[in-house]
Amino acid sequence: MENKKTYYITTPLYYPSGQWHIGHCYTTVNCDALARYYKTKGYSVLFGTGTDEHGQKVAQIAQQKGMDPKAYVDERADNIKHLWKTLGIEYDIFIRTTDEYHVKAVQHLFDTLYKKGDIYKSVYRGKYCTPCESFWTDSQLIDGCCPDCKRTVVDSTEECYFFALSKYSGQLLDLIENTDFLQPQSRKNEMSKFIKEGLQDLAVSRSNVRWGVPVPFDSGHTVYVWIDALSNYVTMLGFGSSNDKLFKQFWPANLHMVGKEIVRFHSIIWPAMLFALGLPVPQKVYGHGWFLFGGDKMSKSKGNVVDPNILVSRYGVDAFRYYCLREIPFGNDGIYSLELFIKRINTDLVNIYGNLVSRTFAMAKQNFDGIVYQKGGQVGEFDSEFLSVIKNTPQLVDSQIDVLNMSQALEYIIDLCVAANKYIDDTKPWILAKQQADKLRLQRVLFNLLVCIKVASELFLPFLIQKPNTVLKALNFQKNTFKLKDLDILYNRLDLANELSILGQS
Ligand code: ME8
Repeated sequence: MENKKTYYITTPLYYPSGQWHIGHCYTTVNCDALARYYKTKGYSVLFGTGTDEHGQKVAQIAQQKGMDPKAYVDERADNIKHLWKTLGIEYDIFIRTTDEYHVKAVQHLFDTLYKKGDIYKSVYRGKYCTPCESFWTDSQLIDGCCPDCKRTVVDSTEECYFFALSKYSGQLLDLIENTDFLQPQSRKNEMSKFIKEGLQDLAVSRSNVRWGVPVPFDSGHTVYVWIDALSNYVTMLGFGSSNDKLFKQFWPANLHMVGKEIVRFHSIIWPAMLFALGLPVPQKVYGHGWFLFGGDKMSKSKGNVVDPNILVSRYGVDAFRYYCLREIPFGNDGIYSLELFIKRINTDLVNIYGNLVSRTFAMAKQNFDGIVYQKGGQVGEFDSEFLSVIKNTPQLVDSQIDVLNMSQALEYIIDLCVAANKYIDDTKPWILAKQQADKLRLQRVLFNLLVCIKVASELFLPFLIQKPNTVLKALNFQKNTFKLKDLDILYNRLDLANELSILGQS
């Protein structure tokens, strides 16, 4: 047990500042699929997620709602946990930055860096972006605005604590340029350019933000939210506490999955903090692309529904997860639309996988009462080619998961089902069924098809968490025999016009 290989994967800690939408689900579903995948491969997996609850932005929203910040974040954290349950997200740890153990560990970390001299007090003069809670130098601004969110910045002068980020420039550049730490390649290029332009020491405390972790040795300051939030990746493992068993077992993380807009924090500030603490850096930070909403404001009347709860309740969790995993080649941006959603589900899940399963089940029930033995079946033309596709697909899927290409991994599973549908066209079981003399050939053809469905369904398991399980149970495979049980239609064909009118009214 102790010797098992470990896999520690994290999502960002989401801000409880607005409605949870399909973008948050995108990252989390992909991480969940990876966590499930590595579990099936026998790894000891730890999957962490949570909420980033401190900072001015959150405090302001709570105030606008007339709520105490803690009451507000409690409600939002419950809400996202409910969403993750709906999507079948099997996280191991849900950390909230207001958790007492995290607050204490952040204080310990801050204190350690202060004692080492990597955090020091000075005066900050520059520009501040309130929504992003980020300080910027003049040269970093784009058209005088925040380079991240493009909003206006304000002049700011304040006494605060700084982290000696610039000291780690050389080590950071080496990490980015000479290792696989940051992926994909495009993000590597951006970050090495950013470092080469010159890193400034980072202001890591705020005297005007009360809703935060108090600096342990200076009660007039709170810890900058990003230092607080990034630390979660080690505090959730017990770093800085007396119980650091998980930290010893799982650190360094295998993968921090993040959206591309927060790559800078994860690939520069976070590793620099770890360098300063003398801790190993994570194996990989992956900055994935975004779901874009076609430049349109989300609107129900346009059918541009992005509320995951509505999509799941209408189309089911498999369809929703499938879309998140399959639609965008990981790393790229992609447009979200209901039209593309429906097209993807109809093409892959209804026409290809669902159809294969229902045709094969129907033929096996009709001709063999649902009991299909391997023994006695007659081998024939097309078998060896089809069987080699079945045999090769798991390796193809593995190879894509290794490079975090979930979309291509799913495409290989769909390709396997396409090969099965072609095998049906080639072997023509409906013709074999007409002649008693062809009965044993028909038996083998159906057996091979059921093997293919079994393999495809098993491969789908980390990704689609409902129907492939149902199929595997209904296949009821034992002692080289399928004893099929009843199975309803897996996925219903969707009609865009109909869906648009229903969702438009919901
Ligand atoms: O940045 N497409 O939190 P956040 C794809 N608290 N992914 C998207 C997306 C979209 N349209 N919109 C959001 C924060 N995401 C910080 C993180 S970590 C120590 C602190 C996903 O609530 C994506 O993963 O703004 C992105 O990075 C994250 O949500 C941003 O979440």
